[in-house]
Amino acid sequence: MLSEKMQEALNTQINKELYSSYLYLSMAAWCESVNLSGFANWMTVQAREEVSHAEKFFGYLNERGGRVLLQPIEGPPTEWGSVAEVFGQVLEHEQLVTSLINGLVKLARSEDDYASEAFLQWFVSEQVEEEASASAAVEKLKLAGDRGGGLFMLDREMGTRVFTPPAAE
Ligand code: FEO
Repeated sequence: MLSEKMQEALNTQINKELYSSYLYLSMAAWCESVNLSGFANWMTVQAREEVSHAEKFFGYLNERGGRVLLQPIEGPPTEWGSVAEVFGQVLEHEQLVTSLINGLVKLARSEDDYASEAFLQWFVSEQVEEEASASAAVEKLKLAGDRGGGLFMLDREMGTRVFTPPAAE
């Protein structure tokens, strides 16, 4: 059985994952508005991944006899100055999520909740990938610049990303 505190923290994390999805969908909408449909595709895939993260927490809470309590999702920003700014914010956001996951691991340890600690390990590894892919995009954007052929090529590359459900990884 989960402690009240852990249940609350996992419910909060469901909300953060759904907010992440909302944020990336908003970024996808912005990318579409400036005709960068490849970047928009990347963001849409990212948004779906975030929903799958929320679902993982949802499933785990239920499995442990907890109660899922969904909370209102904060509104995301809607405007950015450039695609480089968008990806800078993706990286910052993923760094924040990493700190939230680390906080959950700390809580699990402090409560001797070994099952939650084991469950959270998947997210610890996932965050390494999340930060790495955001960071790679930031670097590529630095090389490509904010317009012209480089950005066009990068947009094409971003357009090839496809969603892979975590269970199939
Ligand atoms: Fe759910 Fe991008 O971390």
